[in-house]
Amino acid sequence: CASCQIGPSILNSDLSCLAQECEKLVAAGADYLHLDVMDGHFVPNLTFGAPVVKCLRSRLPNVYFDMHMMVSEPEKWVDDMCDAGANSYVFHIEAAKNPVELIKLIRAKGMEVGIGVSPDTPIDKVLPFLEQVDLILIMTVYPGFGGQSFIHKMMPKIEQLRKSNKALNIEVDGGINKDTIEIAAASGANLIVAGTAVVKADDPKVVIELLRSCVNK
Ligand code: DX5
Ligand code: ZN
Repeated sequence: CASCQIGPSILNSDLSCLAQECEKLVAAGADYLHLDVMDGHFVPNLTFGAPVVKCLRSRLPNVYFDMHMMVSEPEKWVDDMCDAGANSYVFHIEAAKNPVELIKLIRAKGMEVGIGVSPDTPIDKVLPFLEQVDLILIMTVYPGFGGQSFIHKMMPKIEQLRKSNKALNIEVDGGINKDTIEIAAASGANLIVAGTAVVKADDPKVVIELLRSCVNK
């Protein structure tokens, strides 16, 4: 799809110099940055929170920050993430006690709203909310770590979503590389997260261009 956007995930980048890594990815042609927040509870790993996002925002004033909130209490971080400069707030359906209220809360802060769906969660869980959100994020790995293999059997979820809503933004996250991006885009995803494939490359620009060429045919 010509309108596919590529958002690198910085999870597997050199986190000791995160700002430079982000700047490098933007210079390499990233359409947006996908920032993975993990709380050690919803997922068995820890990353960073709003204070780090705020520092990144001061270094990168104009880049779109897509916040992937892999946290058990998503309602708890909405204000902080907004104040830190987040553009979107993607919570997981498995973690939301009251999705409708949470969607309202995120919107009231002026952020775009997304709902994430882990591999074992049926897509039916998010169907009631499609009209109220800006994007649905389909996980093609188990959340928690970069560098895992793409789970092909998640494609029917993307296909079903695309069939039910032509205009919906569908984000795919996990195991995207030159071999898997085409199937994800052909299934209907238009926001493509790519972590390891991009950040571990000798030249991220070459990989972003390659990924783009795979979907822009
Ligand atoms: C996993 C994260 C993903 C991941 C993507 O929990 O949500 O964003 O970092 O990285 P790769 O592309 O390496 O699977
Ligand atoms: Zn992610």
